[in-house]
Amino acid sequence: MSEAVSLTYRVVPGGVLSGSLRVPGDKSISHRAVMLAALANGISEVYGFLTGEDCLCTMQAFQQMGVRIDREGDTTLRVHGVGLHGLSAPPAPLDLGNSGTSMRLMSGLLAAQRFPSVLTGDASLSRRPMGRVIDPLSRMGARIDAEAGGRAPLRVSPVAGLKGIHYTSPVASAQVKSSLLLAGLYAEGETVVSEPGASRDHTERMLRAFGVEVSSETGRAALQGGQTLQATRIDVPADISSAAFFLVGAAISPGSDVLLTGVGLNPTRDGIVRVLRAMGARIDILDPRTAGGEPVADLRVRGSVLRGIAVDPALVAATIDEFPALFVAAACARGETVVTGAEELRVKESDRIATMCTGLRALGISAIPQPDGARILGGRLQGGVVDAHGDHRVAMSFAMAALRAEQPITILDCANVNTSFPGFARLAADAGLRLVERSGA
Ligand code: S3P
Repeated sequence: MSEAVSLTYRVVPGGVLSGSLRVPGDKSISHRAVMLAALANGISEVYGFLTGEDCLCTMQAFQQMGVRIDREGDTTLRVHGVGLHGLSAPPAPLDLGNSGTSMRLMSGLLAAQRFPSVLTGDASLSRRPMGRVIDPLSRMGARIDAEAGGRAPLRVSPVAGLKGIHYTSPVASAQVKSSLLLAGLYAEGETVVSEPGASRDHTERMLRAFGVEVSSETGRAALQGGQTLQATRIDVPADISSAAFFLVGAAISPGSDVLLTGVGLNPTRDGIVRVLRAMGARIDILDPRTAGGEPVADLRVRGSVLRGIAVDPALVAATIDEFPALFVAAACARGETVVTGAEELRVKESDRIATMCTGLRALGISAIPQPDGARILGGRLQGGVVDAHGDHRVAMSFAMAALRAEQPITILDCANVNTSFPGFARLAADAGLRLVERSGA
């Protein structure tokens, strides 16, 4: 839907960010909350659910499979779990919009059902690689047919039963790991996923909250099939990936002082804080606590002078969705920032190495794409027109760049900001960003 309406941001330079802000709920955790609550026995309550389009796609998909989900207020859900075997055949293809998480995680879950299903998505999702889940799921006995190159739509056919496997993934991917763990709930025996680095572990944490035994250590997660889930309460923290735009915006604009409240600080997700601090950002972690099995804190960030760094490749997985914002920080830093080991950026909602480097160059910055990252030399950001290519995080990152630009920045194709951050333009404007939205051609 968001592809049909074009949305442009025009952001006027200058200004600072200030105030106490609460960004919306974590996208990864919101998806998982709906999925696991749907499969549980009993009614689960989800507080702080992200009502972005991606998570609404997940919610609608489960409603199409007979799960009753009551929305109370904007961000509270009551999910009437149907148990592991209680889903019903969807009457139509499940449209997962722009959401890679929905498609990859649900492939694993649907591969184990007794009914067929079809998973579709928008143009971006239909370009993204699904072979990374189809291959291991097929080894478990699943039958999933895809378009050429392992692309959506995916046609999932019922099979007699799945078998647990020991799978070593070539990429550190929470979506691959989670897809296999969800299939593994239905499989005979043990499902073990090993990966080259630590991907985000929200699935493991939340499965435990629903009463499932999961063993995990860095780069490995395992569970036995046949375990049932018991309804629970999930408190979704504010999304660090959404907070990241404000962390960067405040860090690059001297005089800014922002408090981001209730932000999820899971150690598999907090790379942006570590990398920005290594660049000289002033970020204080206040009132660290635990909510819903996840570490949470308030983050105070103040404007400062940043310096370019070589980003530690060991931090890439924990920073993966924040590189668009980080590229903007790099453009505002003194000296060069070098990103390596981040080839996964090429298969996100857009090729983020290409979209960010092209956009930064349009604004007068030297940004040289590399196969697995980029070299960005901090400098003077001129104004200009950049194309977000429908990528939500690219759009929001360039919006923050205007805080340090010399002329206005116009950002094309921003409608998909609603996939992860409904209300971004309003919250950013309230915080001090001089942003105006224009819909239409
Ligand atoms: C996600 C995992 C990450 C991330 C994506 C959300 C998830 O991808 O980039 O936005 O919710 O599992 P990987 O599968 O590459 O880890």
